[in-house]
Amino acid sequence: MKLTEQQKNRVEDLLSRMTLEEKIGQMNLESPSIVGGFDVPFEELIEMMTDGRISQEEFQKIMSTATRDFHEEDIRAGLVGAMMGDDPVKANELQKIAVEESRLGIPLIMGFDVIHGLRTVYPIAIAEAGAFDEDLFERTARIAARESRAHGIGWNFAPMIDVARDCRWGRVSEGPGEDAYLASRFARAKIRGLQNDRTSPENYVAACLKHYVAYSACESGRDYNTTSMSISQLHNVYLPPFKAAVEEGAASAMASFNDLNGVPCTVNPYTLRELLKGAYGMDGFVVSDANGIKECVTHGIAEDDRDAGIQSANAGLDMDMGTHIYKDYLKEAVESGAVSMEVLDDAVRRILSVKMWLGLFENPYVSEEAIARYAGKIPAEHAETALEAAKKSIVLLKNEGNVLPLSKKQKISLVGNLAASEEEIIGAWAMSWRNEDCVSILEGLKNSGAEVSYYPCGGPEGEINADEIARACGEGDVVVAVVGELVSMSGEASSKANVELPGKQREMLSLLLEKTRAAGKKLVTVLMNGRPLALGWEEEHLPVLVEAWHLGVQMGNAVAAVLTGEENPSGKLASSFPSVNGQCPIYYSHPNTGRPGSKSKFTSRYLDAPFDALFPFGYGLSYTTFAYSELKAEEDKDCLRVAVRVKNTGDRKGTEVVQLYMQDVTASLVRPVKELKGFSRVELEAGEERTVNLELKKQDMGFYNNQGEYVLEDGLFRIYAGGNSRDCLCAEIRVNF
Ligand code: GLC
Repeated sequence: MKLTEQQKNRVEDLLSRMTLEEKIGQMNLESPSIVGGFDVPFEELIEMMTDGRISQEEFQKIMSTATRDFHEEDIRAGLVGAMMGDDPVKANELQKIAVEESRLGIPLIMGFDVIHGLRTVYPIAIAEAGAFDEDLFERTARIAARESRAHGIGWNFAPMIDVARDCRWGRVSEGPGEDAYLASRFARAKIRGLQNDRTSPENYVAACLKHYVAYSACESGRDYNTTSMSISQLHNVYLPPFKAAVEEGAASAMASFNDLNGVPCTVNPYTLRELLKGAYGMDGFVVSDANGIKECVTHGIAEDDRDAGIQSANAGLDMDMGTHIYKDYLKEAVESGAVSMEVLDDAVRRILSVKMWLGLFENPYVSEEAIARYAGKIPAEHAETALEAAKKSIVLLKNEGNVLPLSKKQKISLVGNLAASEEEIIGAWAMSWRNEDCVSILEGLKNSGAEVSYYPCGGPEGEINADEIARACGEGDVVVAVVGELVSMSGEASSKANVELPGKQREMLSLLLEKTRAAGKKLVTVLMNGRPLALGWEEEHLPVLVEAWHLGVQMGNAVAAVLTGEENPSGKLASSFPSVNGQCPIYYSHPNTGRPGSKSKFTSRYLDAPFDALFPFGYGLSYTTFAYSELKAEEDKDCLRVAVRVKNTGDRKGTEVVQLYMQDVTASLVRPVKELKGFSRVELEAGEERTVNLELKKQDMGFYNNQGEYVLEDGLFRIYAGGNSRDCLCAEIRVNF
């Protein structure tokens, strides 16, 4: 995020004219507060409904008396720097107060959670990352940026780039999976898509990297739980996507809730000042996560709100999301010297710089034309990109007997409540979609021309209907079962100790299996979920498994395209799947240990479960097959040149994601058995063979030690290439740096 000299001068001039109160105002992010004729705080009301003290109906009745406070008076007084919301008309109203009625006319920056699309919701990140397609990552983000600006949003609380390795954590759905390298390339592409099209202020937004940092390493996969790790682990696994995104020019970051090695990230000078703003050079600002400053008292690192506010400001946290602690305490803190004016000016300068960079001083309002653009359905080209993303995110896990693709002649019995849902295809953290844009799997199959009948015989909650199951198995030529998770079962505050299929879905599948077998018919199982699931039973018993995730508005058309063979699936897993819960966390890039897991007793294994992932990172099948041969790795001056032959050995065109991994066999710290270091999507005609060339920069063959230093160490390296992280060719090479 670079400013012109003129813009920098305007920021300094503004800063020099601001009062202390106005400076603190810029550091205050408000969201519309719920106020109304009830005598408990809104948060308490939510608790009362959640724990059953009041029913949903009572809650709705109370809420009907509620109004929203948009803090107009504070905006007029220059005490609000940023607001949250996705309503362009309201945004213009509030912006008008800020620009035309406050003393200095500093525009608001409007922020919102646009994690995987605003109106055009595309696949959740864990799915999209599995496309291994940077150009796609960038294009979907660009659509999100344009739609955001047309809704008055100049600041997306995205991308979420937490490397996550424990699928018990519900937010694994929001991020790009378990691998630091893939997450880094995903992060770079998302920054380019969100920020780089500056041909018009309507085409770009400020990104917000979250959640900074290592929030996903929460112990036991329990959201908000403590995180503790070595400095080398922090630098080698969790920081890389943030460092990469800052190098791409990310305009802001969001401090995460977790304490990291005993210091909450909201008040952590090491991560905020020394790394993010110092070593990485981020010139934008850092915002807390919701209520994050106040929670530092609960963490036990701050005596009270005032202490939490002082520690946050001094640690480099520039903007307070939703606690009013900066608003209430920073004035006295500066006057008493607990927080210096330099600290304050640095925070405000960063915030003003992002607003200047966004062009908000020249174009603070959303045009009527832009608002009208989204009055109806989403633009066709946006829907097409969402469809492309959805198709590329689908992963074929098992296809015994080549049951898929289905033929047009086959009459489909579609079973499972999720199959007809428009709501449950959207995925976590999408709040602005409309049903008119959504295509359920049932609709998608009908759109494809398939003959399909739907039987709502059970889902993630509630009972299963054996009669419907029997009817479905009796009437169709093939049964397609859609099972998985509701949107509410993943995302924030959705950690689970049991990551098997929820409810009675396994029972439903077992009954379907029995009935289809008895009728001599095939069963196809489509998974619609937000996190990797423990699918040991399913993999053992079910002939066909398709991982379809929560793919957004075009889910139905994408699933239909894959099931009917119009689309040959090319998606891969960005996260490993366990067989059973007890294997969590499970990931491919692990150290070898002194006793690598094997069938021998005294090795790193379980008595009652496999030690390998059920489906490993990078795994995904196709309707064709690919063979790898002739892997070569040769040293060039500043890189290794890796070449591998890939052949399409099947009878139809297909796309393969060729993956390049590396192992530093012996080093001053134990290194993982594999680390992803490159990938390439390759489309091959049936029978076609090609040499795929990949480059591994020598500079990328190092690692961070426990002093936080990046080191390159001479020695033996193993280079791997294959279609997933397990089944690879291997070549050894000695490298001297
Ligand atoms: C939430 C989330 C964060 C989100 C923020 C604002 O608690 O942790 O991802 O951006 O609040 O909605």
